[in-house]
Amino acid sequence: MDPITKAIRIRSDKTNEMEHSSPLFLTSSFTFDNAESMRSAFADETDDNIYSRFSNPSVQEFVDRMCALEGAEAGYAVASGMSAVFASFMTFLKSGDHFISCNAVFGSTHTVITKYLPKFGIDYTYVNGQNMQNWEEAIRPNTKMVFLETPTNPGLEIIDLELAGIFCRKHNLILNVDNCFATPVNQTPIKFGADLVIHSATKWIDGQGRVLGGVVVGKKELIHEIYLFCRSTGPAMSPFNAWILSRSLETLDVRMERHAANALYIAQCLESHPKISWLKYPFLSSHPQNQIAKRQMKNGGGIICFELSGGLDAGRKFLNGLQLLSMTANLGDTKSIASHPASTTHAKLTDAERQAVNITPGLIRISVGLEHRDDILQDILQTLEKC
Ligand SMILES: Cc1ncc(COP(=O)(O)O)c(C=O)c1O
Repeated sequence: MDPITKAIRIRSDKTNEMEHSSPLFLTSSFTFDNAESMRSAFADETDDNIYSRFSNPSVQEFVDRMCALEGAEAGYAVASGMSAVFASFMTFLKSGDHFISCNAVFGSTHTVITKYLPKFGIDYTYVNGQNMQNWEEAIRPNTKMVFLETPTNPGLEIIDLELAGIFCRKHNLILNVDNCFATPVNQTPIKFGADLVIHSATKWIDGQGRVLGGVVVGKKELIHEIYLFCRSTGPAMSPFNAWILSRSLETLDVRMERHAANALYIAQCLESHPKISWLKYPFLSSHPQNQIAKRQMKNGGGIICFELSGGLDAGRKFLNGLQLLSMTANLGDTKSIASHPASTTHAKLTDAERQAVNITPGLIRISVGLEHRDDILQDILQTLEKC
C-alpha cells in the first residue's frame, strides 16, 4: 500500500466495541492479569504496555503512521518538537564528542546547540549549508553527528539531502534531519541517507494549531536508544495529543497540496511587488536552491518569506495593517499567519546578532493557510499599501 493509504488505515487494535475510528487510550498505566505477566513485561520479554511514559497504543498509532509516511523502521513520539531535537542530540552525543550543524536552524535549536550542548562537554561547529568544503573542514576525529533543517526556518534555505547523505556515509556520521517545514508527504530524508528524522508535529502535522507534539523516526537500533533515553527522562507525548495528531495525518497529504498551491500562487503574485526587495519560495525559479528543492521535494511547501524595502518600521506597519492574517507565534495552520521576527521573536538581539542568524530588519514570514487564495493575497496587498 502507498504510505498515504497507510497513514489513514494503520490503527491500534480494534476493541470488542468494533469502533470504526480508533479510540483514545487516555490512561497513565496498564494492568496485568497476574504477577508472571507483569514480571515478563518488566523484563522486556513481551511488548505489553506498562506505563504511558514508556508506550501507549494511541501514541504508537501516531508513530506507526509517521513511520509509514517517512519510510522509517521505527519511531518514538515526544511532547514537542524541541524535546525531539534534544532527545536526538543527548541520546547519541556525550562529553568529548563533536557535532556539526548547518548554521541556519530554528531559534530554540540554536540555543540548545550553543548554550546547552557545551555545558555537557559537547563541542559544535556551524557550517554553511551550501558549502561542502566547509563541511569537510569541520570534520574532527571525534565528530559523531550532522544536523540540518531543510527548508530552514525562517529563511527557507534548501540543503542538498543527497550530498549530506554521501558526506555522512563517507565519514560514518549520524545524519539527523529536521523535516518539519516540508512534512513527510513532501520530502522523505531517509531516502537520501538520513539516519534520524525529527519533526515538530505542532506545525503542519497537527495543521490546526491545537496541540504540541514531536517525533523522531529512523533506524530501529537508533530509535531503541532514543526510546531508552526518553523512557527514563520523561518527555513522552500525551495520548490525547497523539490521538489528535493521528487523525491529522489522515488529511496531511491533501492539506499540504492546497497549502503549497496557495503559497505558490501568492509568491508568484508578490514576487515583483514594489514594496518587496526580495521574496523566497522554494518552487520559484528565482530561489537560489530551486534546482535542489525540485529534486528532493514534491512541492514548495506552505511558507513564503520576503524582505520589505522599508525595513523594521515597515515590518511593524505590515503586521498592524493585517485584517485577515493572524499575528501569532505558530505556523502550519489552516489559518494564514504572518510574523515579523525583527520586532517580535528576535527583538532582543542586536542588529549584528540578527544579521548573523539571517534575520533582516524587514523580513516577513507568511505561513499560508487554507483560506481562499485571493482572500489571503488581498490582505497582504492591502497591508503592503501602508508599509
Ligand atoms: C524547524 C523547527 N524545528 C523545531 C521546532 C520546535 O517545535 P516545538 O515548538 O513543537 O517544540 C520548530 C518550531 O517552530 C521548528 O520550526
